[in-house]
Amino acid sequence: MIFTVAIDGPAAAGKGTISRAVAERFGFAHLDTGLLYRAVGAKGGDPVEAALTLSDADLTRDDLRTLEAGQAASRVAVIPEVRAALTDYQRSFARREGGAVLDGRDIGTVICPEAEVKLFVTASAEVRAHRRWLEVGGDEAQVLAEVIERDKRDAERATAPLKAVEDAVVIDTTVLSINAAVDVACRVIAEALGVR
Ligand code: DC
Repeated sequence: MIFTVAIDGPAAAGKGTISRAVAERFGFAHLDTGLLYRAVGAKGGDPVEAALTLSDADLTRDDLRTLEAGQAASRVAVIPEVRAALTDYQRSFARREGGAVLDGRDIGTVICPEAEVKLFVTASAEVRAHRRWLEVGGDEAQVLAEVIERDKRDAERATAPLKAVEDAVVIDTTVLSINAAVDVACRVIAEALGVR
């Protein structure tokens, strides 16, 4: 069975948690595509070269989750050649046998517009910054400033900017708990699969 769940949205909206829960519930493979851009940013040197030669070792380094790695990812993600170098891998993952969940910024718009389910997970910048701050600590105002800066860059870039497609189901986790958000996602997917 080929079945793709595309989950897009800004940083710290809950995409990761929802994606992992959904993948486990339906037995789908999961790809966190942000990790690809984080790995390219962290590798240093020429970003296009880094994207073309990305290896498993690059994807498993333990400094990919930091705020700095997120900022570096957002900067290399504006380069069209970097995005192009990562496209085939993501497309084959999406259409692999057995079902796949991909989360990122452009999965429903660019990588897999034919996805059977498209979700757009969002929340206010303040709520997302607070969640990130609980994870990373430090100065909360600084975390908020970085969230806003990264949102702006991701939404305004010319190639594959962050936006919800018309046929995406929007899940706003500003007030929705993560469990409630996972329930909504599972219901939408179960309906598309024709199971209960
Ligand atoms: O989801 P994340 O925080 O790990 O993403 C890090 C950065 O990578 C994000 O600011 C923008 C970029 N990104 C992207 O441009 N396209 C994707 N599909 C995923 C991430």
